[in-house]
Amino acid sequence: MLGRPQSAKMDLLKAVPLFSGLSRRHLTLIAKAADETTAAEGDILARQDKLGREFALILDGRVRVERDGKRLAWLGVGDFFGEMSIIDGLPRSATVVAETATALLVIETRAFSALLDTTPGLQRKIMVGLCERLRAADAALASVN
Ligand code: CMP
Repeated sequence: MLGRPQSAKMDLLKAVPLFSGLSRRHLTLIAKAADETTAAEGDILARQDKLGREFALILDGRVRVERDGKRLAWLGVGDFFGEMSIIDGLPRSATVVAETATALLVIETRAFSALLDTTPGLQRKIMVGLCERLRAADAALASVN
């Protein structure tokens, strides 16, 4: 994370629910691996069927997740995307579009995989996030059947 003093980076990470509860050592590793970036409304942040190279956490703004042009979800502050391609090595499952000006914390594939391997607390939170999405998808599917 460039552009912020170390103490401010750590404060930022500690305030993110995905990273809360992690040790100082793990937060330091994440701070080293993460870059802050911004996107404008309408920017494509991930493209369905393309290889994914980044995990992203939303610091500000809102994004829309779409598959085959149909909306699957909106994601906002504290939510993340791009984890699936990194975990299973397959192309992006969906397209992610910035609905507003958006600030992101981005971690490239190799660094994110290494963090997952070495940070059990992070693994669990990502798994909980995946469970939430599966439950929401199940509920949506059940409501149309
Ligand atoms: P990935 O497949 O790497 O790239 C697209 C991302 O969209 C995916 O990772 C998830 O982070 C996110 N995504 C896919 N499906 C959903 C969904 N149903 N709800 C919320 N986010 C999703």
